[in-house]
Amino acid sequence: MEVIIQKTTEQAVELTAKIIAENIGIKPDFVLGLATGRTMEAVYAELSRMHREDNLDFSLCKTFNLDEYIGLPPEDKNSYRYYMNYHLFNRINIDKRNTHLPNGMAEDEIAEGKHYEDLIKRAGGIDLQLLGIGSDGHIGFNEPISALFSRTRAKSLTPATYAQNSPLFDNPEDMPKRAFTMGVGTIMEARRILMLVTGASKAEILAKAIEGPLTSMVTASAIQLHASCTVIVDEAAAADLKEKDYYRWIFENEPEWQKYRQ
Ligand code: GLP
Repeated sequence: MEVIIQKTTEQAVELTAKIIAENIGIKPDFVLGLATGRTMEAVYAELSRMHREDNLDFSLCKTFNLDEYIGLPPEDKNSYRYYMNYHLFNRINIDKRNTHLPNGMAEDEIAEGKHYEDLIKRAGGIDLQLLGIGSDGHIGFNEPISALFSRTRAKSLTPATYAQNSPLFDNPEDMPKRAFTMGVGTIMEARRILMLVTGASKAEILAKAIEGPLTSMVTASAIQLHASCTVIVDEAAAADLKEKDYYRWIFENEPEWQKYRQ
C-alpha cells in the first residue's frame, strides 16, 4: 500500500483524476470501477474537464459502480445511476451501454448479485477500482461485519450510514435501508485499488482502516491485503495517521511518484 498525502483537497482530487486518466491513455478499453458520494463529485468534474479540454477519450471504456440503493429506479434523483449520469456519464463520450450499476429494482436479489458478478467477469475484471470510505469504515456498502470474502449481494445499511447519506435526500426518510453492493471479495479482485479520502471527518476512520488491525468491523481495512493499492488523502484526512512522515518519505523517494511531485 502507498499513502500519498496532498496539501489540499483539490490536489488530492487532481492526482486521483490524473492517475485514472493516465491509465485510460495507456489502455483505452479500460475497465473502471467507480464509487459515489460527495468526495467523488470533484473527481468526476475533473475527469469531465479532462475530456472536454484534453480530449480524454472514454469511448472504449467500461465502468462498474460499487453499489446501488434497493428500491430506487434509475430516474430517481437519489439513485446512484442518476448520480453517475449527472456527474460523469452525461459529460463524457462513454457509451452508456458500457456503464454498469446493480439494478436497484431487481426482484430476485440473489440472481442480481450473480448477474453483476458475471458482467464483471465477462468484461475481463476491473482494472482499477476507485474507492471512498464511509463514516463507519465501509467500502461500497460493505457495512461492519461484512465477510471479507463477500460477493455482490443485498446488504442492510447501518444507522451510521443512514445518518451519513440521508441528508442527501429531499426527504431524509426516503433513503432506502438496503442496497446492492459489490462484496469486499469482489473489490479485492480489481487489479488496482485507488482510494480517495478527504476532510477532517474521515481522519479517525481512515487511520483505523490503514494502520489498524485487519477486521470486518472496518471493511476498508481489507485493502491492506491488496497487492496494488494507492490511498490518496488530503492533510485534514491524514491528521490521525501515525506514520505520516514515513508516507511522505516514500512519496519523495519512490521513482514512480517523481512525476507527481508539486
Ligand atoms: C456511500 C458509498 C461509498 C462512499 C461513501 C462516502 O456510502 N456507498 O462508496 O465511499 O458514500 O461518501 P462521502 O464521499 O459522501 O463521504
